[in-house]
Amino acid sequence: MVLVYKSDPARGAVWARRFAAEMAAIPFRSWPDTGPLEAVRFLAAWEPPADLAGYRNLEILFSLGAGIDQFDLAGLPGGLRIVRMIEPGLVGGMVEYTTLAVLALHRGLPAYLARQRAREWRADPAPLAASRRVGVMGAGVLGRAALDALAPFGFPRAAWTRTPRAIPGVSCFAGREGLRAFLAVSDILVCLLPLTGETRGILDAAAFAALPRGAGLVNAGRGGHLVEADLLGALDSGQVGAAVLDVTAAEPPPAEHPFWSHPLVWLTPHVASSTEAEGGADAVIGNLRRYLAGEALVGEIDRARQY
Ligand code: NAP
Ligand code: GLV
Repeated sequence: MVLVYKSDPARGAVWARRFAAEMAAIPFRSWPDTGPLEAVRFLAAWEPPADLAGYRNLEILFSLGAGIDQFDLAGLPGGLRIVRMIEPGLVGGMVEYTTLAVLALHRGLPAYLARQRAREWRADPAPLAASRRVGVMGAGVLGRAALDALAPFGFPRAAWTRTPRAIPGVSCFAGREGLRAFLAVSDILVCLLPLTGETRGILDAAAFAALPRGAGLVNAGRGGHLVEADLLGALDSGQVGAAVLDVTAAEPPPAEHPFWSHPLVWLTPHVASSTEAEGGADAVIGNLRRYLAGEALVGEIDRARQY
């Protein structure tokens, strides 16, 4: 009943210590020192090894990130359970990033930075937060935390989910049928969706056209959510005022990509949040305890939904 960890070795050393202290019943091995593959029941990885088929007795694949779109679900054995990462470091980092990005867009910082570079001293009107509506796509673990963090500023908040939700103080919209109405009340749009067949390319020209004119965009989901050419067109026309992008179709974007130098695009290298070593190890240990006790796992993926 071995667990193999496949990622950064320095974090792996933290995991090894946590497993020795908290889960001695399950021997911990750091890839590529896997030992006999038939003994491996659990794999914790960002991307699975190329010889995954050799792990014939694998029962659970733990993603080291919140997302699982890096896995080819169709290519994984049918009975293999997949669990995403839920841990405090990921949540805290995303709260910081989305709050920072929303406040930056609210206060017009991308335009002011462009003006500074042009030595232009010019002020725009500064509406209060109470008149700037923020819409968050995805109100799961990260989207809910982002919405909660924005509450004290007084932004009117909206959320868009796949299934109908009720969140105190937040206008909730669901499904394709609720998308246009949600976008219409999003002066700043934050994408915190998982990348699935349904959400790929959702930030496209039609979505931008449904936003209030001059809206801000924050994409901290996945690059695949955004149709990049459509965003560039919307920025050119002024339909979108500015964008903060943590994720892009190619990471990094090619050297000649317009995002690198666009005055109204702030680009960060997929750093909005990442799994902390201790928190990640503890999340997996918690799930292994549940597994050994025959209980439901926290964060298990529904393959039909793809998240
Ligand atoms: P989660 O808890 O699974 O929440 C997903 C949310 O998205 C849910 O509210 C879900 O709706 C909604 N959703 C899924 N498909 C939808 C659809 N077709 N239409 C409308 N809403 C849909 O996921 P999470 O832990 O918050 O993570 C979200 C994503 O953030 C990850 O998958 C990853 O892509 C991204 N992420 C990025 C970074 C970064 O550094 N940039 C870091 C961590 C995570 P329901 O509530 O109805 O299920
Ligand atoms: C990072 O992007 C994650 O999915 O955890």
